[in-house]
Amino acid sequence: MSNRLARVFRPQTGRTVMLAIDHGYFQGPTTGLERVDVSILPLVPLADALMCTRGILRSVVPPSTRTPVVMRASGGPSILKELSDEQIAIDIEDAARLNVAALAVQVFIGGEHETQSVHNMTRLVDLGLRFGIPVMGVTAVGKQLTRDAKYLRLACRICAELGAQFVKTYYCDEDFETVTSSCPVPIVMAGGKKLPELDALTMAHRAVVEGAAGVDMGRNIFQSDIPDVMMRAVIALVQDGARPEDALEIYRSSRGARSGQSTRS
Ligand code: 5RP
Repeated sequence: MSNRLARVFRPQTGRTVMLAIDHGYFQGPTTGLERVDVSILPLVPLADALMCTRGILRSVVPPSTRTPVVMRASGGPSILKELSDEQIAIDIEDAARLNVAALAVQVFIGGEHETQSVHNMTRLVDLGLRFGIPVMGVTAVGKQLTRDAKYLRLACRICAELGAQFVKTYYCDEDFETVTSSCPVPIVMAGGKKLPELDALTMAHRAVVEGAAGVDMGRNIFQSDIPDVMMRAVIALVQDGARPEDALEIYRSSRGARSGQSTRS
């Protein structure tokens, strides 16, 4: 268990930059993820961990890849149905066979199938304990729920109390530090919908300054016009303590250099 957690969170910093590409498990070929083999594989070595489904791991990610995998372990409904109606979507022995570093399960606090989703998590925690595989509880926010500190404190604390080894949750502009400080296990910030680059970098910076142990970002990286550079900018913030302006400069100067190259060629 500790060894797997140390593969996800760099022991030198205690932080992680995870790349989330699991969106297809409920929304199909998401913008930016149509060709994971072409657009995502070059980013994988940069990430501290890759969050993906077992289908993508088996069909696209080469077995030689050294980046640890946090595997999406819940699913069922598509975007056409009630999303909270998930079930456990893997067999723990297959997760162990695939040598995953952790499992991820959606928890819908306040959602229609709240109890079922919490039970998915507690069952996975029990299964994970048998194999030394940690579980990341992912606090899902339904359409009718507010992403404020009060809600996020409730959802994160329930995940931790019921056994998740770490929790993924959204950032909120006010009192996010109360979400991290009231949760006894590490919190990883979820990225959410695509934002302008400076806004996404500022959000990631604030999250770690306010106690998050890193980020698990998807669309704000792979929907960027230069995803590898955005990834490097996020790593600079989270792992190297860069300020958002410095990280944005990394992004801008690389974009400038690349557009100069393409003009010349
Ligand atoms: C939703 C999830 C995702 O499927 C995914 O990981 C989200 O990534 P992002 O919001 O950064 O695009 O866990 O809760």
